[in-house]
Amino acid sequence: MIKVGVLGAKGRMGTEVCRAVTGSGDMDLTAAVDIGDPRDQLALAAVVVDFTSPGAVMDNLRWCAAHGRNMVIGTSGFDEERLAAVRLSLGEAPEITVLVVPNFSIGAVLMMRFAAQAASFFESAEIVELHHAGKVDAPSGTAARTASLIAAARSAAGLGPAPDATTTALAGARGADVVGVRVHAVRLAGLVAHQEVLLGGHGEVLTIRHDSLDRSSFMPGVLAAIRGIPALPPGLTVGLDTMLGLA
Ligand SMILES: NC(=O)c1ccc[n+]([C@@H]2O[C@H](COP(=O)([O-])OP(=O)(O)OC[C@H]3O[C@@H](n4cnc5c(N)ncnc54)[C@H](O)[C@@H]3O)[C@@H](O)[C@H]2O)c1
Repeated sequence: MIKVGVLGAKGRMGTEVCRAVTGSGDMDLTAAVDIGDPRDQLALAAVVVDFTSPGAVMDNLRWCAAHGRNMVIGTSGFDEERLAAVRLSLGEAPEITVLVVPNFSIGAVLMMRFAAQAASFFESAEIVELHHAGKVDAPSGTAARTASLIAAARSAAGLGPAPDATTTALAGARGADVVGVRVHAVRLAGLVAHQEVLLGGHGEVLTIRHDSLDRSSFMPGVLAAIRGIPALPPGLTVGLDTMLGLA
């Protein structure tokens, strides 16, 4: 049995993860920790799963590194700067494996891959991400990761900035600039997690859309990450692609 600890255990995702781990058949829920709980019980876990908040996750990472625990991180907020900070802290704990996954849904992983594949063929690319009103950070980790993948593909193809004649705009009207890709964030009661990648060319638009309709959509990916982490090299891995045979 794989011993699993969950950080953020009382949250929307954490509750779902605790349920999935308990029902998995090959995992033990060794520790379910939320804000204010002592983290000591996590020392018994082989893998610690973090679904807390961008403001809390780095301290949890430092704790896991100090206690030699492998980590699966679903919490958002991991831009390039933060990933560099993770690599730095892992330099002091070279035996630890940390897997940061911007999106555990298989459909979303494929959406990001398709967007990266298509990006070099279109002169324009923008992202619209849509989430429930309880989400505290914007844009989503998935949107930021998709923007990075699109930017890398555009750069490799020698594409310059996307055409945009805007000279006057209200603050935020053109979305956030994430490595040169515009990202628009919608927060709406009733939604779960959705994203559209819009690619525009000569007389045509390609839209790639993914919808997570229920948080259970993330659980096969979370369980695969917990099972797969021992096979990863120590250090930092980003995304589920390697585990899904897409890398
Ligand atoms: N990677 C993915 O596929 C994916 C999917 C959905 C959500 N997310 C991300 O996961 C994170 C959690 O999302 P959510 O909707 O469950 O949020 P939530 O607010 O419902 O839950 C967060 C939980 O973490 C707890 N928490 C905060 N600080 C803590 C700490 N220091 N130690 C322990 N627990 C702490 C809170 O009390 C809360 O119960 C967010 O960053 C969200 O963007 C990622």
